[in-house]
Amino acid sequence: MKDAFGLPQSLLVLGGTSEIALATARRLVARRTRTVWLAGRPSPALDEAAGQLRALGAEVRTVAFDALDPESHEEALGKVFAEGDVDLVLLAFGILGDQAHDEREPLNAVRVAQTNYTGAVSAGLVSARALQAQGHGSLVVLSSVAGERARRANFIYGSSKAGLDVFAQGLGDALHGTGVHVMVVRPGFVRSRMTAGMEEAPFATTPEAVASAIELGLRRRSETVWVPGALRVVMSAVRHLPRAVFRRLPV
Ligand SMILES: NC(=O)c1ccc[n+]([C@@H]2O[C@H](COP(=O)([O-])OP(=O)(O)OC[C@H]3O[C@@H](n4cnc5c(N)ncnc54)[C@H](OP(=O)(O)O)[C@@H]3O)[C@@H](O)[C@H]2O)c1
Repeated sequence: MKDAFGLPQSLLVLGGTSEIALATARRLVARRTRTVWLAGRPSPALDEAAGQLRALGAEVRTVAFDALDPESHEEALGKVFAEGDVDLVLLAFGILGDQAHDEREPLNAVRVAQTNYTGAVSAGLVSARALQAQGHGSLVVLSSVAGERARRANFIYGSSKAGLDVFAQGLGDALHGTGVHVMVVRPGFVRSRMTAGMEEAPFATTPEAVASAIELGLRRRSETVWVPGALRVVMSAVRHLPRAVFRRLPV
């Protein structure tokens, strides 16, 4: 069960090697999280991530999970919930793709959409049902500012995040009053493996800063979290710029 401050004892990460998720897991283990499930595609990196969290004192288990195989989600996640209550599900998997390349290779673009959107629809619904059955818990969804407005430079990824974001908002409304809380997290540019080698965008931040914002959001039971917080205001202005103006911005 969560403590009086809304922090979880048990955590399930979907996308178990995500740098943002692991920064969050480290932070929560340093508070009071004792059990961590890392769900992801089996790899040495997944085992290493589990080892690092174990070294911090958590009981860590891994489970095979592929966002691109929704037929398997029920069984993979069911196994986790069958072992005991999960206070927090952190939906962290995602791929950025390569916009220029993916525009020429539609099947690659579809892979971005299927990982980030349809994979999350399936895993999100399976997790939500399990949380609802136990009667408590949070589902934290890593969306992105990229879903707020289509950008020439990354509209394939952005559109998948827009779909994910709206889905998660609706799921949060559907679960309102059930004891299950859904929190949508919208980071800007985060310095992680996903953005390695890319030119930094304004308001660039770190996985640790996102982890800290997630902790605060859990304590407050927030529904939406921007990282950094200033992006909430910035994006509300950006959202209303006329397209002709927005198109000419160097974003
Ligand atoms: N970095 C940013 O600037 C930024 C900004 C806003 C939002 N976000 C979002 O935050 C989340 C975490 O990103 P990050 O920065 O931590 O990136 P990351 O370190 O690259 O993590 C991405 C995770 O997604 C997993 N993944 C990819 N395809 C998968 C699949 N088919 N099935 C299961 N897992 C899969 C990866 O697992 P493998 O080890 O198997 O590849 C990895 O665990 C993503 O949803 C991302 O879109 C990131």
